[in-house]
Amino acid sequence: MSIDAGRDMSYDAVMARKNEIMKSSLGIDYDDFELTPLAFDYERMMAGGDYTLEDIARIQAETKVGNTPLYELRNLTGAVREFAGPGKGARILLKDEAANASGSFKARRASVSCYEAQRRGYEGVATATSGNYGAGVASQAAMRRLKCIVLQEVFDSRGVGQPEIVEKSRACEAYGAEVQKLSVGPELFYQMLVTLERTGFFNASLYTPFGIRGVETLGAEIANQVQQAYGKHPEAVVVTQAGGGNLTGTARGLELAGATETEVIACSVDLSGLHMGSDTDFNRKSFTTGHTGFGIPFATWPDRTDVPRNAARALRYMDAYHLVTQGEVFYITELLTKLEGIERGPAGNTSVTAAVALAAEMDRDEIVVVQETEYTGAGKHHNRQLGFARENGIEVRVGDPRDNVPGKVIVLPERLDQVQGRAQDLEKVRRSYVKNALKRLPAAEWSDVDIDFVAADTNTDEAWVRQALTDLAGQTGTSSTEG
Ligand SMILES: Cc1ncc(COP(=O)(O)O)c(C=O)c1O
Repeated sequence: MSIDAGRDMSYDAVMARKNEIMKSSLGIDYDDFELTPLAFDYERMMAGGDYTLEDIARIQAETKVGNTPLYELRNLTGAVREFAGPGKGARILLKDEAANASGSFKARRASVSCYEAQRRGYEGVATATSGNYGAGVASQAAMRRLKCIVLQEVFDSRGVGQPEIVEKSRACEAYGAEVQKLSVGPELFYQMLVTLERTGFFNASLYTPFGIRGVETLGAEIANQVQQAYGKHPEAVVVTQAGGGNLTGTARGLELAGATETEVIACSVDLSGLHMGSDTDFNRKSFTTGHTGFGIPFATWPDRTDVPRNAARALRYMDAYHLVTQGEVFYITELLTKLEGIERGPAGNTSVTAAVALAAEMDRDEIVVVQETEYTGAGKHHNRQLGFARENGIEVRVGDPRDNVPGKVIVLPERLDQVQGRAQDLEKVRRSYVKNALKRLPAAEWSDVDIDFVAADTNTDEAWVRQALTDLAGQTGTSSTEG
């Protein structure tokens, strides 16, 4: 047994102290919000920090976050109109989140946590992430004069790191963070708890209310900027979906700014068939976020994170879910550079790809907003990713993108009209959520509180939940996630 400062550091003992560690590293007692073994009071948890949207915007303006430009992609819209049917081809707008300090919307997510940590006198912040969030926290912490530790899953068992993740490690270090580089496996959350306990740092988890409320300003800015420039709110906003915080925060912000009719459309790169926890599949994907390997499990069960209750609950706010292939996103990345004169990174370009497909089906006088961009370069660049794919035995060719096979073949489209992706069946996603809920609490024990909670969490109603329960109650043993 490993002992540290008199504490038992075995896996089980650390896990058993999880709630205690959360309380001291975050100041949130998650037990306060629990209603039943299944349901909890989400809105009360979100209201916890007592911040208004204006407070958050002010905090963010202190550290180079927010008020990013919104561009009309005139040439891309024109290219879509060339093949779209008569009267079709919505105007495509782009919210340039790469303009935030650290180069992505993740700065919004990190800003309130770092502000809280500074205000409450913590010496530093810690977070577990392999994504842009690490750079976001490191950059915000640097500006607030806080120490920063980032835990990252970087390597497979051969010691090979996905180029995009290696670039993200570099960025964290550039902003002055200590990066603990781990290989793929289950130890990440354990290691995070140990780090929080040993350092006494603030827990800048991706999934706290502080993080998600920080993204609300993004949705509100989109609603206000589109209203100002075009005299109405957008018909649709496309959001790249992985853990769901991007969509949750944006949708809440749109609502707060009065854009209640705007459709919120999730999109992810389709990586069905690849297993995210698998050592061999780890480096067979060209995208490290914004893909179905996170998007579907998190939509169908958000409470699988490093905090007891996840503030990112995408299914609550999702009106549709569109999937695109890796090849389609690479093609659009190149096209954005050539037509619009901007080089941007993979996650944001996933929603540009879905927006192209959706705009072709929408009316000309409608507006679809691509909700974010991210910076690019080094391992994030599509040419490096295509090179890495080839090094890992993936076939790369030009043809029909419907022939893409995750982990085996990347097919770059020949023409823009081939960029279509496919719609994900949201009804199926919602039913997967209910299956997961049934694993937590058997149907016979569900009260009205549970029904209401699940209706809100799946963006349905009581009748839908009761019907799903009747249909699914007998099948709780089945697997409920895909991708
Ligand atoms: C630039 C960018 N866009 C989108 C996403 C997806 O956000 P979420 O995990 O909140 O769904 C990420 C997450 O890693 C990201 O870094």
